[in-house]
Amino acid sequence: MKEKLTDLQNRDAAVIWHPYTQHAVAKPPVPIVRANGALLYDENDREIIDAVASWWTNTIGHAHPYLADAVHAQMLELEHVIFAGFTHYPAVELAEKLLPHLPEKHSRVFFSDSGSTAVEIGVKMAIQYFHNKKIKRKKLVTFDNAFHGETFGAMSASGDLGLNNAFAEHLFEVVRIPEPYSGQEEKSAAVLREVLENNDVYAFLFEPLLQGAGGMKMYAAAALDELISICCKADVLTIADEVMTGFYRTGKMFASDYLTQKPDVVCLGKGLTAGSLPLAVTTCTEEIFTAFLSDNKKSTLFHGHSFTGNPTGCAAAIASLEILEQEKTQRDIRRVCRRQEEFLQKLKPYKNVENVRRCGTILAMDFKAEGKTDYFNNLRDRLYDYFLERDVLLRPLGNVIYIMPPYCITDGQLDKVYAVIEEALESGEF
Ligand SMILES: Cc1ncc(COP(=O)(O)O)c(C=O)c1O
Repeated sequence: MKEKLTDLQNRDAAVIWHPYTQHAVAKPPVPIVRANGALLYDENDREIIDAVASWWTNTIGHAHPYLADAVHAQMLELEHVIFAGFTHYPAVELAEKLLPHLPEKHSRVFFSDSGSTAVEIGVKMAIQYFHNKKIKRKKLVTFDNAFHGETFGAMSASGDLGLNNAFAEHLFEVVRIPEPYSGQEEKSAAVLREVLENNDVYAFLFEPLLQGAGGMKMYAAAALDELISICCKADVLTIADEVMTGFYRTGKMFASDYLTQKPDVVCLGKGLTAGSLPLAVTTCTEEIFTAFLSDNKKSTLFHGHSFTGNPTGCAAAIASLEILEQEKTQRDIRRVCRRQEEFLQKLKPYKNVENVRRCGTILAMDFKAEGKTDYFNNLRDRLYDYFLERDVLLRPLGNVIYIMPPYCITDGQLDKVYAVIEEALESGEF
């Protein structure tokens, strides 16, 4: 029998086009009216555990009062102002607060409003860096399984995950290399060396340590160090897309903190405002910034979104950084890492799950399934429904299940997430 739709679901069905949703078959969306910590609440006060941090954005928990107060105060003071020709305290203070956490050579922060735009800007910085220096470089190198976002540059840079087929002919050419997964490190480095031989590459763009949408696939920092150092020797810029890995997702502030070789450009989004407001940044070295300084106006980076440097977003990001620095949050991050590791060990004996892996606060596993381990594996919808029926929001990538909670998730809530996964594994249904 079909469930009766709520008023909000009916109104939604009439006017909304949802992201990543096949409306011909999708179930009605769950109406959420409020949230607190790691919990989402529907109209009937049903509690759902947000075990995917609302598309990997939420670090410190939903509806954090300190952050909400900071945003409210900023709204009353200065909600927005054009950022070309003008500046304001929240943007400067945020940049000053962020830069000490970034690789030492980083000295400039460029604002935008999503992870995709942060990546676009990183790629544009790299292209124009060589253009301004009158050096011909035409190619971007990325990983096979990469995911860098939704805009055309970001789609071009992403690997073939089957999401962009309709646009394939409209994307610019990118050279893909295999990830340095365990056992593949030498192959990855060898392919990169070969690709760089023609001196035609302007940048190497990568998700450090962890391929997110590509299936939560992990690789070692030392292997990435080797690739960055190969690029460095060839005078190729390196761009770390830390949109997902930033803000302690990997256990450290940035995944780049695990590296000895540091990227020239870093892209940040999602957790920058703890998932509260759309803000992103692309940071770079003084050397890159300097290449845009000239008497010739055409050397300018002609890029700016309406909401570039939005003060309210910046205020949210400053508040988020302050909360992240608190001892309680740091303890929570360590606790989530430890709990995830304990659950990883517990999962090992299960025969129907494989490649159980962890990177900092993120735990991922492949449910054994017929067909390929990819985004379109049929198990996805069945698993999603199974978990949601048990009040846990887990959004499998095909047959890959991952847990990426807000750090404030309680032990009890984590126990429940783990319990429903074990229940699924023991159910005989999957
Ligand atoms: C690594 C990475 N880069 C970029 C993006 C795009 O970010 P946004 O969805 O904010 O545009 C994502 C989104 O999932 C991501 O995981």
